[in-house]
Amino acid sequence: TGYITYDPGFVNTGSTASAITFIDGDAGILRYRGYPIEQLAERSNFIEVSYLLIYGELPTATQLEDFTTKIRRHTLLHEDLKRFFDGFPRDAHPMPVLSSAVSALSTFYQDSLNPFDEPNVELSTVRLLAKVPTLAAYAYKKSVGQPFLYPDNSLGLVENFLRMTFGLPAEPYEIDPEVARALDLLFILHADHEQNCSTSTVRLVGSSEANLFASISAGIMALFGPLHGGANSAVLDMLEGIKAEGGDVARFVTRVKNKEKGVRLMGFGHRVYKNYDPRAKIIKRTADQILAKLGVSDQLLDIAKELEETALSDDYFVQRKLYPNVDFYTGLIYRALGFPTKFFTVLFALGRLPGWIAHWREMIQDPATKIGRPRQIYTGEKPREYVGLGER
Ligand code: CMC
Repeated sequence: TGYITYDPGFVNTGSTASAITFIDGDAGILRYRGYPIEQLAERSNFIEVSYLLIYGELPTATQLEDFTTKIRRHTLLHEDLKRFFDGFPRDAHPMPVLSSAVSALSTFYQDSLNPFDEPNVELSTVRLLAKVPTLAAYAYKKSVGQPFLYPDNSLGLVENFLRMTFGLPAEPYEIDPEVARALDLLFILHADHEQNCSTSTVRLVGSSEANLFASISAGIMALFGPLHGGANSAVLDMLEGIKAEGGDVARFVTRVKNKEKGVRLMGFGHRVYKNYDPRAKIIKRTADQILAKLGVSDQLLDIAKELEETALSDDYFVQRKLYPNVDFYTGLIYRALGFPTKFFTVLFALGRLPGWIAHWREMIQDPATKIGRPRQIYTGEKPREYVGLGER
């Protein structure tokens, strides 16, 4: 049956052609649909970037207005879907809760099941962009025992999410525009990253012609892992650990270099970037600005900076071309904004959502798409005769 290439982890195998995102890992370049991430971070906003990723072009003013209005109309959850959150323990991790809730959207919107029904793909796209922030906020509310808040559609997407997360029915919630802008910026920076683990998962599941909700629910679970999106929480746990042990950064770095089991410098290294992650550069600046603005002085930020400096001047990291990635400083910002560590990866999922949707749609429309079905190199037993139970 021919020759099979063995490439564990797909280090060198292109799984698809794609026109969405360009990365040059050696030069530290990232572009969405041709636009440099730095320009989008400075001048665009998350809704516009979502439109760009999904439809391929920046929207005109009318297109943007229309897109925003459609999303606003779909922020409510079905009342029965709200009861869904009662089925989980109070201290449940919000990532599996979110993935299950997105999976459940297929049962509430059964019109979504045919992946080739274009008007319904359009509707599922809008439903996801509108409802996932509501679902995420409710997962948080459930975990702290507070009542769910209905969306307020006079607000923008990020502002609405902040209010549903931190607001209370009894008192007005003041949205700090700088907090909203910081979160919007982080969402832009997370919005796509070509064939990463979760996006490849979305495409692989979708290649079986499973619908958008099912594919994205699977993507959320791929993002959960600590080597992928879960790294943003893991970085904070690591920094807390170093602080608890007296703040000895050099000692921690030595443990990493000795390859102690389970000890990695979280938030460092990347399969594609062999240079400073362009997103991390922007995020590092934002961390400084937002912490200063909020008047938060966080010892963990000092530890993170010392850790980065130590690693970047150490041969182990230099030789392996390990630099801070997107997850290194994000947790410090999320923490300053008031999110608990467990919730950080949910914020990554909110940001990555338009990228997943764009890839699923590109996959389903591409005539070259075939069901994803990797081959293997068999390493098991040679043929042998069955032995009866009494003779083993
Ligand atoms: N700390 C210490 N050593 C590392 C690290 C790290 N963070 N990352 C890679 N290495 C070493 C690794 O031990 C190996 O050394 P050697 O050649 O001596 O065996 C070498 O560098 C190459 O590493 P690899 O594991 O083959 O690289 P990979 O491309 O398979 O893994 C990675 C990429 C991101 C999973 C890995 O760098 C890692 O585990 N980083 C920490 C977790 C993390 O921050 N993940 C977030 C990734 S960025 C965005 C996202 O997806 O969320």
